[in-house]
Amino acid sequence: MPKRIIPVSSGKGGVGKTTVATNFALSLSRYAPTLLVDLDTGTSSVRNTIGVPIERDLYHFFRKGLRLDECITRLPSSWNPDGLYSDFGFVAAPLHLIEDVTNFGPEKKARLCAAINELPADYIVLDMKAGLDSNVVDFLPWSNSGILVFTPHLPSATLAASDIVKAILFRKLRIVFSPSSPFYNQVKDPRTTTLLVNDLLDEVEDVYEEGLPNLDAFLVDLASALGPHPVLEQVARTVEHFRVHYVLNSFNGVEEAFDTAVKPFVENLVSTVSERMTLTNLGWIVKSDEIHLGNCRKRPVLLSPRDGHAVHHATRGEKALDALIRETTGLAIEPKKLKPVLPVPSRPDPESALARELDSLNRMYHRKGDRDDPRDNFDYLTARALHLLTHARPSEFGTPRLCGPAEILRSFFPADGRTPPA
Ligand SMILES: Nc1ncnc2c1ncn2[C@@H]1O[C@H](COP(=O)(O)OP(=O)(O)OP(=O)(O)O)[C@@H](O)[C@H]1O
Ligand SMILES: [Mg+2]
Repeated sequence: MPKRIIPVSSGKGGVGKTTVATNFALSLSRYAPTLLVDLDTGTSSVRNTIGVPIERDLYHFFRKGLRLDECITRLPSSWNPDGLYSDFGFVAAPLHLIEDVTNFGPEKKARLCAAINELPADYIVLDMKAGLDSNVVDFLPWSNSGILVFTPHLPSATLAASDIVKAILFRKLRIVFSPSSPFYNQVKDPRTTTLLVNDLLDEVEDVYEEGLPNLDAFLVDLASALGPHPVLEQVARTVEHFRVHYVLNSFNGVEEAFDTAVKPFVENLVSTVSERMTLTNLGWIVKSDEIHLGNCRKRPVLLSPRDGHAVHHATRGEKALDALIRETTGLAIEPKKLKPVLPVPSRPDPESALARELDSLNRMYHRKGDRDDPRDNFDYLTARALHLLTHARPSEFGTPRLCGPAEILRSFFPADGRTPPA
């Protein structure tokens, strides 16, 4: 069973999900067994990026009854002469469009989620398809964003990336407050409360309605309508503890990346979702001909020789890694104190979140020196991710398992009637 499943998504297409997911999974596999699963079942991106022979893929899982671990492709030794990537494997998406394999329904989705939860690797990286439909959102963690990719070159993609955060939180809220939820057994007037809560959710989800701008305002309204309730507190914590992790692809300098990508991303997040989430920039990947050529030749940049030889990067000691991460993120040595659950501010204020992001970008930029090698970028991303994987709570980055609605409801309303954990 995997220690962690980490989806790489973007909402919009063509921003570099497959490039980031593939090289990130390769890089992670130098530290622990890692599998990449291609969930872009429409265009099967990974098989177009890693040109090795593939004997079995998701088609065999869905149509031929094979287990998912029987559909793993490993790199042949000619692709891995130094053995650096022996712990890497991938599950390819089907070759061509086959309607019920490409656009699978709820039953197939549940089967696939269960099979991913059983895959034999420490880390599983998911390369997601573009879009925000349930075949994307249902594979995302529900307490953090996984890795979001966006780029200064496609400003509209930054809004799609922040909409992923909204989609994850709304999926969870719709489940917790669905009309059949046990929540309504715990309130005075179940019928009126069901209507009230779902009306408020509709209003806040609808960006054309200006009455309730974001989830912070929704929570204030809900608390004043229903009074104190442990589930409301837990929902408030869900929003407060939500972690957003992002990577800037095709990076072209701090100022441009900040103005055209980070700023609209943070502003949209704050105004339509919440200003109470924690944002983490996991680094950037420079715009590089080597990356693009690698993709065109179906040999990812990390598997392409540099100066005629594959380069083995020294792994940094844990202490050094810790210092590097603290230096570039401005993390405090002491763990952060928990923020109060309620009340929350009623009007979004993106200024302080923006100042923190710019500060962290500048710090990262100043330590990089004049090297702009995409391999170093993937090293940095991997170091940051490993730090989170080993130091942060599992709910902060990725997910130990993909959960369906029933599991999410159970975590909020345990069968033994205990108050749900905060
Ligand atoms: N850092 C980069 N430098 C140069 N070219 C890049 C970089 N990242 C991605 N590309 C190129 O941009 C194109 C899109 O990249 P990629 O396929 O990874 O995006 P995607 O988000 O997975 O797209 P889709 O939504 O279609 O799955 C590819 O041609 C790729 O080679
Ligand atoms: Mg892709």
